[in-house]
Amino acid sequence: MKIAIGNDHVAVALKNYIMKYLQEKNIEVIDVGTNNNDRTDYPIPAAKVSELVTSGVADRGILICGTGVGISIAANKIHGIRAVVCSEPYSAKLSVEHNNTNILALGSRVVADELAKMIVSEWLDASYEGGRHQKRIDMITQLEVSGVLSL
Ligand code: RB5
Repeated sequence: MKIAIGNDHVAVALKNYIMKYLQEKNIEVIDVGTNNNDRTDYPIPAAKVSELVTSGVADRGILICGTGVGISIAANKIHGIRAVVCSEPYSAKLSVEHNNTNILALGSRVVADELAKMIVSEWLDASYEGGRHQKRIDMITQLEVSGVLSL
């Protein structure tokens, strides 16, 4: 599995912690930055990681900002991205099984390192269940493409 990872300036330390964890699991990581504390607008890493995921260069993406909110909103504007911001592992797991999320967002000001690692672990280990969930994913895609839902 190949993971693209990106973050803004308040999340460099948590990004490095998560990267180390991924590398210990022999997961290939593409880091789009930022890697310093200069202010970085979170839509920039959101766009870079999303592009790597939608193009198939990366299998999934991880985005980190202060709350995970701004960076996940930005990613969710991109066609083909289903990003979830999580602060506990249960939703992370279910977000893949039911919603086929391809980006996990974390808040460096919300979750401590160990909890973030548990969230990432559950999210990575989960698989999309398909079946009854696909119809709903298709409806989300319809909203994404046309802005309306025709029932
Ligand atoms: C940066 O100060 C902060 O606004 C950002 O990291 C994030 O929390 C936005 O959602």
